[in-house]
Amino acid sequence: MGVIRKAAYHVLAPFNPFIMFVGLVCAGDYVRPPAGRTLYVSLSKDHSKTSPQQVHISLAGDGKMRISWITDESAPSTVKYGKSSGIYEASQTGTSSSYRYIIYKSGQIHDVVIGPLEPSTVYFYKCGLDSSPEHSFRTPPAQLPINFAVSGDLGQTEWTKATLQHIGKIDYDVLLLPGDLAYADFYQPSWDSFGRLVEPLASQRPWMVTQGNHEVERIPIIHKERFSAYNARWHMPFEESGSSSNLFYSFEVAGVHVIMLGSYTDFGPDSSQYKWLESDLKKIDRKRTPWLFALVHAPWYNSNSAHQGEKESTDMRDSMEALLYTARVDIVFAGHVHAYERFTRVYKHKADKCGPVHITIGDGGNREGLASKYKVPQPNISLFREASFGHAHLQVVNASHAQWTWHRNDDAQPDSTWFTSLASDSSCVV
Ligand SMILES: [Fe+2]
Repeated sequence: MGVIRKAAYHVLAPFNPFIMFVGLVCAGDYVRPPAGRTLYVSLSKDHSKTSPQQVHISLAGDGKMRISWITDESAPSTVKYGKSSGIYEASQTGTSSSYRYIIYKSGQIHDVVIGPLEPSTVYFYKCGLDSSPEHSFRTPPAQLPINFAVSGDLGQTEWTKATLQHIGKIDYDVLLLPGDLAYADFYQPSWDSFGRLVEPLASQRPWMVTQGNHEVERIPIIHKERFSAYNARWHMPFEESGSSSNLFYSFEVAGVHVIMLGSYTDFGPDSSQYKWLESDLKKIDRKRTPWLFALVHAPWYNSNSAHQGEKESTDMRDSMEALLYTARVDIVFAGHVHAYERFTRVYKHKADKCGPVHITIGDGGNREGLASKYKVPQPNISLFREASFGHAHLQVVNASHAQWTWHRNDDAQPDSTWFTSLASDSSCVV
C-alpha cells in the first residue's frame, strides 16, 4: 500500500460508514472509550511478490500441522521441513486459493498440511520457493502438562502489540482465540496487515481461533457471503473433526479436548452446529482427554454493561448450555466484551459445582477500546472483573489441576487461581 493510501486509511478508518454502522449496531447503549491507534503493518520494500507473508500454523489432527501463508502472485504451495535448520528431509504440497470482496482480490492463500510430526519437537520449515526465509515451530506435547495462551478481540493497535509482546514471553504450546481477529471491518487490506502483525508468533505456535462478529463482513446486496475473509484465511481443522463448517470444530491436544463454537451461525436444536456438537461430545473419552474446554465469542455470562441481552449470548446459551453442562465442560472462554471477567462454575445463572467456569477474555487490544462499565452490585457468581487490556496463561498441569493466570498488560496486576477438572471430581461423574 502506498504512503498516501496508508495515511488515508489511518485518518478515515474511524469514519468509515460501514464501521460506524456496525459499531452502532453492536454497541447499543454502550459508549465505548476513544478508539486506539490502528497499526498498519507493511511489507518491506525488498519483499517480492512471490515471497511468503502472513505465515501462521494450526493443528490439523493426528499430529499434523496446517501451514498457511499468502503470496501476492502465484507461487508453489509447498512446505519443506525438517528437525535441523537448513536441512529439510520432508516436503508436502497443498493447495492455494484466493477470494474477492467487492473490488478487493486477495493474494494466493496457500494451505499445506504436514506431518505426522513428533510431539514437543522443533521443526524448521520453508514456504514456497527455496529463496523464502526459514521459520520454525514447536509441536505441542503428546501428554500433559500443556500450556495455553488465551486472548480474544485482538485487533491491531498498540495495545494489541503489547498483548502480543507479553504472550511471546509465555512458553505456551497453543494459543486459543475466542473471536474477533483483525477488526478489518470490510477493509480487506487490514486482514493482510493483521496477518503480518501476528506472523512472528503465529508462525511459531499453532493459533486455534473461532470467529466473532467482526469476521462476518456481510453487506446486504453488495457482498452477501458471510465470513469470506475469515474462512479463506483462517482454515481451522473442521474436516478433521467431522464438522461441515469452518465456523465450528474441535481438536484434541495432549489431554485436552477443545470445542470451538460459532456465535454468529445457527445454534438452535435443528442446526448443523448443534447436531455436530452433540456428536462431538459423544466422541470424548475423559480418560484420554480429562480436560474439556469450549470457546464462543459472545459470552453466556457477563456482568459488564456492554453487550447485554444479545441473542448470540442469551439464545445460544439457552440452546446449548445443557449440552455443555451434561458433558461436564470445564471452562467456557468468550470474548466480545472488551474486558476480563472470571465467573465461578455456573449452570442456569446459579453457582453449580458441576458447571463450567466462564471466562470473558475480550481484552486483547482492539481499536474500539475497553468496556469499562459494570453492573452493580457484582453478581455473586462473578469472582473477578477488570476492564484492562491483558493476557492470560493456562497451564494444564495434570489430569486434575490447572493454573490460570491473567495479567494486566500495563502493570502485571494478576488474577490467578487453580482449577480442578470435573473428570477428577467423583461427585460430577460424566
Ligand atoms: Fe465482538
